[in-house]
Amino acid sequence: MSKIGIIGAMELEVETLKSKMQVTRKLVKANMEFNEGTLNGAEVVIVRSGIGKVNAALCVQVLADIFEVTHIINTGVAGSLNSKLDIGDILISKIALHHDMDATNFGYPLGEVPQMGIKEFPADEKMIELAEATCAEVLPELHTLVGRVVSGDQFIADKDVKNKLITNFSGDCCEMEGASIAHGSYLNKIPFVILRAISDKADDSAQMDYPTFERHAAEHCAKLVEALVAKL
Ligand code: ADE
Repeated sequence: MSKIGIIGAMELEVETLKSKMQVTRKLVKANMEFNEGTLNGAEVVIVRSGIGKVNAALCVQVLADIFEVTHIINTGVAGSLNSKLDIGDILISKIALHHDMDATNFGYPLGEVPQMGIKEFPADEKMIELAEATCAEVLPELHTLVGRVVSGDQFIADKDVKNKLITNFSGDCCEMEGASIAHGSYLNKIPFVILRAISDKADDSAQMDYPTFERHAAEHCAKLVEALVAKL
């Protein structure tokens, strides 16, 4: 039987899912509340990790060691780096990478963690396929893209920085946890997928757009995750 870890960085990104689950156990670890139980008939552990890559990595390790999850889903909002992705649209991860890792001085490609032999952490093919099919089913009005998540400990709200992420990494969306969740899942051999709804365009309008659209975007993702868990 599958046991699915669901991580959102902010309360807003997990509160709807938490309100729909039946909780059988709550456990606080690393200052994060892990809610174990069922959602739409599936065994799940839902947790707010907190923002940024360190919080996200710690969260994955607890899910792996204590809850022994079989799958990980990261849900939340992101800035768009692709003109095909408008506010509210959905990005399903093909890969995720760290845009703020730079060991180019030692000959490593930009974004590659030294001595790991991998720069782009691939999401699970089956989870991608199911997420795509689920999107078409429950969010037919939205545009969905399977693409590249680039993550760093940085809110992107400047068009020059945005353009660098596009030029250097061909990123489709930017956020602050996905690559850590992908990295941690890879090390623990847990299949994962990142599902992000677009809250802003990661440029000079981002600070204004973000608070306006984040709730709306997060609701899209929650709807997708609720339907997806039943299929895993
Ligand atoms: N999450 C949502 N929008 C973002 C942005 N523009 N940069 C980083 N993380 C985000």
